[in-house]
Amino acid sequence: MHKNFLNISDFNKKDLEEILETANRIENKSLDIDLNKKKIGLIFEKPSTRTRLSFISGIHELSGIPIEIDTKNLNLSRNESFIDTVKMFNLYLDCIILRTNDHNKFSIMNSYFDKTIINALSDVSHPCQILSDYYTLIETFDRKELDICWFGDFNNVLYSLIDLSNVTGSIKINIFTDESLVNRNFLKKANNVHINNEISKDILSKTDCVMTDVFTSMNDNFDQNKKNKLMQYQVNSEIMKHTNNQTVFMHCLPANIGEEVTEEVITSSKSIVLKQAYNRKVIQKGLISWLNI
Ligand code: CP
Ligand code: NVA
Repeated sequence: MHKNFLNISDFNKKDLEEILETANRIENKSLDIDLNKKKIGLIFEKPSTRTRLSFISGIHELSGIPIEIDTKNLNLSRNESFIDTVKMFNLYLDCIILRTNDHNKFSIMNSYFDKTIINALSDVSHPCQILSDYYTLIETFDRKELDICWFGDFNNVLYSLIDLSNVTGSIKINIFTDESLVNRNFLKKANNVHINNEISKDILSKTDCVMTDVFTSMNDNFDQNKKNKLMQYQVNSEIMKHTNNQTVFMHCLPANIGEEVTEEVITSSKSIVLKQAYNRKVIQKGLISWLNI
C-alpha cells in the first residue's frame, strides 16, 4: 500500500495499471467512489490552471472537500515555521496536494504529515501529468507499447516521462535536444531512452507521439543562450510533416506559442492537447481513489 504519490519511479507497473484501471472505471461509471467529505488541502507555491482545476473539480465529483490553501494567508508569512505549519495540516486534513519548486519539501512534509501527499509538480517531476498522458496515449492507440519523441528541454515533465519508460518497460523515448542540455546522470537508469541532436526523418516516421514543453520551466530563470539552442528543436510543420498519419502532438500546457511549438501545430488535427488536459481530472480521480486516502 502506497501512502504518497511523489514520483512515478516509486511505483511498479502493476500499481500504475491499477491506477489507470480505477480511473477508467470511475470515468465509465462502473465504479462509484465516495470520499465521504474527506478534506484535501491544495497548496500551490507556483501558478497552476489545469492541475488546480482538475483536482478541485475531481475531488468535488468524488464527494470530497477540496481546501485551497493560500500560503500568503497562513502564519508562514509571519515566520511560523514550515514544520509547525505541516503539524497543523496533520490535525485538520486527510490529504495534501502540493506544487513546489523544492522537491525536498515532500520529505520534510512526510515526516510530520501522517496521511497522503500528492506531488502536483516539483522542480524534478510532474508525475500526475505523465500518468495522465500515459492514459491519454493508451486511450488513443489502444496499446501500451508506445514510441514517443520528446523535443526540447530536459525538465520535470521529461524526467517523469523517463521514469514511466523505466517502470513500464514498454515505452521507447527519442529525445531531440542540444547535447549541452542533456542530464546524463539521470539517463544512467534508463534503458529505452535515446538522445538525438539531429532531427531524424526515419525516427519521426515511426513515432506515435511528438511531445514538447516550454523552454523555461517555472523553477528556471530565462536563459537566452538556452533558448537559442532550443529554437532548433521547435515543433513546427516541417517536423510534423515527417510523422505518420496516426502520430499525435502532445503538450502539457501552458505553451509558449512561437517558441517550443508553432500555432499551426498546436491547433492542428494531430494535436490532442485538450484531451490531455481533460484526462488530468480523470486520472487524478483514479489516483486519489486508488491511494485510499
Ligand atoms: N500541465 C499543468 O500542470 O498545467 P498547470 O501548470 O496549469 O497546472
Ligand atoms: N515544465 C513546466 C511544466 C508546467 C506544467 C514547468 O515546470 O513550468
